[in-house]
Amino acid sequence: MGLKQRLRIAWERLESAFTRSFGPAWNPFFQLGALGWFFYWIVAVTGIYLFIFFDTGVTNAYQSLEEITHAQWWAGGVMRSLHRYASDALVVVMTLHMIREYLLDRLRGPRWLAWVTGVPMIWFVFIAGVTGYWLVWDMLAQYVAIVTTEWFDALSIFGEPIARNFLSPTHLSDRFFTLMVFAHIVVPLFLLLVMWIHILRMSDARINPPKGLAIGTGATLLVLSLVFPAVSQDPANLATVPATVQLDWYYLNLYPLFDYVPRPVMWVLTVGFSTFLLLLPWLPPRRRAAAALVDLGNCNGCARCAADCPFNAITMRPRSDSLPYEQEAVVENDLCVACGICAGACPTATPFRRRSALVPGIDLPQLPVRELRERTLAATAALAGPARVLVYGCAHGTRLTALQQPGVATVELSCIAALPPSFIDFVLSGGHADGVFLTGCREGDCHHRQGIEWTRQRLAGERDPFLRARVPRERVHSCWSGLARTTVAVRQLTAFRERLAALAPTERGVPAAREEAGHA
Ligand code: HEM
Ligand code: SF4
Ligand code: SF4
Repeated sequence: MGLKQRLRIAWERLESAFTRSFGPAWNPFFQLGALGWFFYWIVAVTGIYLFIFFDTGVTNAYQSLEEITHAQWWAGGVMRSLHRYASDALVVVMTLHMIREYLLDRLRGPRWLAWVTGVPMIWFVFIAGVTGYWLVWDMLAQYVAIVTTEWFDALSIFGEPIARNFLSPTHLSDRFFTLMVFAHIVVPLFLLLVMWIHILRMSDARINPPKGLAIGTGATLLVLSLVFPAVSQDPANLATVPATVQLDWYYLNLYPLFDYVPRPVMWVLTVGFSTFLLLLPWLPPRRRAAAALVDLGNCNGCARCAADCPFNAITMRPRSDSLPYEQEAVVENDLCVACGICAGACPTATPFRRRSALVPGIDLPQLPVRELRERTLAATAALAGPARVLVYGCAHGTRLTALQQPGVATVELSCIAALPPSFIDFVLSGGHADGVFLTGCREGDCHHRQGIEWTRQRLAGERDPFLRARVPRERVHSCWSGLARTTVAVRQLTAFRERLAALAPTERGVPAAREEAGHA
């Protein structure tokens, strides 16, 4: 097992601890992007309030902020603290979100756009934070101003060194300060624009955390603001050099390095690291599976595939052939992550159809539905003894090798929702196994975003194509244990088999008429 895989398992274990406390829906790790949006809006709203009372001239900035903080501590003071703490929280969730997407390998293929847009977002967040500290115009602001401008002067792109602005009171320019105010407003607007591009390729991107989680985090920030209000340090004094300042470790964590590392080297490090991040989606190991393929002759234009695709890769267009349907599905190859969820949604992807005709309206080249049927039959053919179970699992969750044991066969799919529900009916009504065990990623965190939710809804009869009512539900079990909790999956499989052993075994042999009839 490689280092990244080990780290991923450790990370998933950490997240599991949160699932135990918060439940899958409220686990903050599963909602990091949504929490990022939530904190952004808190920062924006509180920022607008502060701006109303803030004096944007360098001479009065400090004083106006003191008044906001103390004279109206119950409104302006709380707003200021919320502004600070929500910004800090944004850095925390952004960093965790980036590490997480990397460890869970959600940056390759069409996901490159989300990853690559994430990199300028990091810069924008930090520029907004640094310029924010600058506006307070206290000792910390003076320190930030001097270090930052000296860093930019190392680029020699300005005719006159801008750090000179902060060397003596006579040089201090009001216009330069106003420029910082402008940057502090414009950069977050750019950030918002890139945040919108960031989620463009995802259908129903989670940009709002669940209500309970939002109330909980919002209340925590409010309590923090009341107990530890954000205040300024001593006013800036250009006649002195700031000797000791209290740093903000969320935004200014790199600043102590400037004492030891030459400015040009800091440029090489920051730009080099950003470039490395930008290239990550294309670095080895490269994996790019073929996109889903539409077979027009079998597509009736029902649009279920388009509704279920988590990456907006399918559009419904007017029919281009002579079949009597209004629409046809069209896959945009550059957007398709090859999850196979569309094949799982297609009503023509049923194993009850004749083998020769088993070409559905949409299919995955690497595991076509016909092949899935062959694998299902081959895997179950050797099953013997009581409580025979067929496990369908996804390639990103529980390792199927850990579940293999006498009386249990496994079939792996790209995503559990790539399994058309009719396969479960096929296996049980044909007596190919006594039970079907579905496993994959963790609830609330499907690698392909919506696979677990669609599977749950299909089994519950809430989403087409649903599992037929005639399928005995006591013979179907779902276990969302993920990669790290293999023992949970093994335990649930054992318990499931014990329950199956108490039922009468299913009878092998599919009635010919049903095999021919089809479900489409
Ligand atoms: C302001 C900071 C950020 C916010 C608010 C944010 C927000 C989001 C949201 C809402 C999603 C969609 C989640 C879903 O519905 O499945 C998402 C996905 C994603 N984000 Fe971010 N993000 C931020 C920063 C970053 C950074 C810095 C990176 C990496 C450099 C990154 C990489 C990704 C990737 C790769 C996905 C796609 C995941 C997938 O396809 O399943 N994000 N982000
Ligand atoms: S689900 Fe199947 S039949 Fe329906 S539009 Fe998509 S490809 Fe066509
Ligand atoms: S395989 Fe199907 S569902 Fe998955 S991304 Fe491609 S088109 Fe969408």
